[in-house]
Amino acid sequence: MIAKGKAGIVEKSKDTAPRMLDWYDMHARTLPWRKMPGENRADPYHVWLSEIMLQQTTVAAVKPYFAKFTARWKDVQALAAANDADVMAAWAGLGYYARARNLLKCARVVTTEYEGQFPDTETELLKLPGIGPYTAAAIAAIAFGQRAVVVDANVERVVARLFAISTPLPAARTEIRARTDSITPDTRAGDFAQAMMDLGAGLCSVREPACGLCPLHMDCAASANGTPEAFPVKPPKKEKPVRRGTVFWIERKNKIWLVERLDTGMLAGMRALPSDNWSARRNGNGDMPDGLLPNGPWEKWPGAVTHVFTHFALTLDLAVYRGKDFDMPLNAGEWWPLGDITEAGLPTLFAKAVTAYEKIQKAHP
Ligand code: ADE
Repeated sequence: MIAKGKAGIVEKSKDTAPRMLDWYDMHARTLPWRKMPGENRADPYHVWLSEIMLQQTTVAAVKPYFAKFTARWKDVQALAAANDADVMAAWAGLGYYARARNLLKCARVVTTEYEGQFPDTETELLKLPGIGPYTAAAIAAIAFGQRAVVVDANVERVVARLFAISTPLPAARTEIRARTDSITPDTRAGDFAQAMMDLGAGLCSVREPACGLCPLHMDCAASANGTPEAFPVKPPKKEKPVRRGTVFWIERKNKIWLVERLDTGMLAGMRALPSDNWSARRNGNGDMPDGLLPNGPWEKWPGAVTHVFTHFALTLDLAVYRGKDFDMPLNAGEWWPLGDITEAGLPTLFAKAVTAYEKIQKAHP
């Protein structure tokens, strides 16, 4: 039921949270990092790890990574003691690699400064590397049962529809947060947050939401107007710039030359094929990072690799060197056996370059 508040603002009925919790008790998704309603609270290490992995990534994509990490590093201390390169390689393919570097930093801070126990308040959690307002709220609520207002993209959609918030994103976020606060219960805030996330991931989908099955149907302003898909209101779309660059395939004796990318910038610190200095803001300059290019002959395959990042699309020409031995500076990279290339932990962009090379090689051996 919808009631008018003092200032004429539409307030939600007090039933929203109980309805969501009842629904969650029946329909909670079974997820590897989650405890079901009525069970003990989830392990904070699992909650933290899953929340970091789930940022900008789907549940389906995260599941195998979560299984791999928790099998290999059983707790936060074990992760803190891991090799940087092992963690980065285990993360390869999940994207947004700054998350992996912050993950390690955070594990080490928790181990050395918090005696291996995650702090249990949003304020303390926010001080840790890689933990922003969303993640701090999610961990405080889910792992520690604190009342916290948890708003991710799924919750944002549910709340924007529930209240038919007509301000476009991102400006709408202030109101969405305040509205989420207004419906968050004092107890079971973690279950409530996860119920909202599940609702957004399922029934309250971006397209064709299943309003008839929704526990909040009778309260939902957008559904009552027959326009749920219009919310949240999107800002006008910006075209993504397309950048170009070159990726260098330098092969000798069934090995290829791999480098470690710089500690800053895109895909920082990851093992990679050498490529020129492309970025979100500029095209590559045609040169290797260390300026050392074999003279050639080079075989060029224009536009062999395309990859879309959040803020730009990248097209890479593939330049292949299969010439005479070339003395690469040993401290700048490593010769990697082609037969083991899947073990190198290459980010998706460079894994695509490997696939492109293999295709070309088949066509032009
Ligand atoms: N997405 C991010 N965190 C989640 C969680 N705890 N449950 C379901 N979906 C999520």
